[in-house]
Amino acid sequence: MTTEFTNWSHHRLSRVEQALERFLPISNDATDRLHTAMRYVALGGGKRIRPLLAFAAGETHQACPEHVTIVACAVELVHAYSLVHDDLPCMDDDVLRRGKPTCHVAFDEATALLVGDSLQSLAFELLAHPDLAQTSPHTRLPQVEMIRLLATASGSHGMAGGQAIDLANTGQHISLAELELMHQHKTGALIDAAICLGAMCGGPLEAAHLAALKQYARAVGLAFQVVDDILDATASSEQLGKTAGKDAHQLKSTYVSLMGCDAARQFAHSLHQQATAAIKHLPHNQRLLDLAALILQRTS
Ligand code: IPE
Ligand code: IPE
Ligand code: MG
Ligand code: MG
Ligand code: MG
Repeated sequence: MTTEFTNWSHHRLSRVEQALERFLPISNDATDRLHTAMRYVALGGGKRIRPLLAFAAGETHQACPEHVTIVACAVELVHAYSLVHDDLPCMDDDVLRRGKPTCHVAFDEATALLVGDSLQSLAFELLAHPDLAQTSPHTRLPQVEMIRLLATASGSHGMAGGQAIDLANTGQHISLAELELMHQHKTGALIDAAICLGAMCGGPLEAAHLAALKQYARAVGLAFQVVDDILDATASSEQLGKTAGKDAHQLKSTYVSLMGCDAARQFAHSLHQQATAAIKHLPHNQRLLDLAALILQRTS
């Protein structure tokens, strides 16, 4: 990674951290369990890859950074909620997340459910933020369309639907096509939303640009979960900040279980190539290219 990219991402990461700090409900009181738990899961952890993708996509269309910050936080909050629920005993039953005890371990299961619910609601409250509604007809953001986009990506036709497929496929033999469908839903959908929402902050998108961004999103979204599957099988819990080796232990269907690590790595490489080819003609695409490389090379 270049120093320029490292500086660029540090700047955006601190912007997102400060905004989340501001948007999350304050918890002055230790008995305010729900608000304390919301801050526990959403602040000070995670790679924030979805917010970075939103900023990178925004740069292709000269998006206003203040607007991108809001949509980036909205997607990150839905993602944080999905992790809290993913870790619950009725799902993956995990005890470690972002290097800390999972929400239901640090608090309790009922609180973890409510944290997920509340983070999701807060995400949509942010997307309905008055700062995203502009008055000039030329710069007016399609705010209702943005809300609809995140709702679809989060719900039964997106992330939640993918999680349902994941649970239904646990312990089953499935085809590669079925596995891809599952990954595109459970992980790809929110990554696509981050990219589209970031770009939409720059105003209405030309059809060709939207198509290029969608192709890029499809490839990096799938690559992200393929690499997650590989890291689960090859990295340590310390490195990941979450329990390694759980997929095999829980008989999950993954790219590693279906094709093995080497073929999964090759597949991730070919997805990276597809992602870079898709945005070849997109203006100001350097940060999207950097992030595609980061998604492929990440070690945590
Ligand atoms: C983990 O996502 C769950 C998947 C969708 C693979 P991340 O790897 O982005 O988790 P954080 O946000 O960095 O903790
Ligand atoms: C979870 O996939 C994806 C979502 C949370 C939507 P995983 O179950 O593989 O994520 P990790 O490995 O626990 O982070
Ligand atoms: Mg899971
Ligand atoms: Mg999991
Ligand atoms: Mg995983």
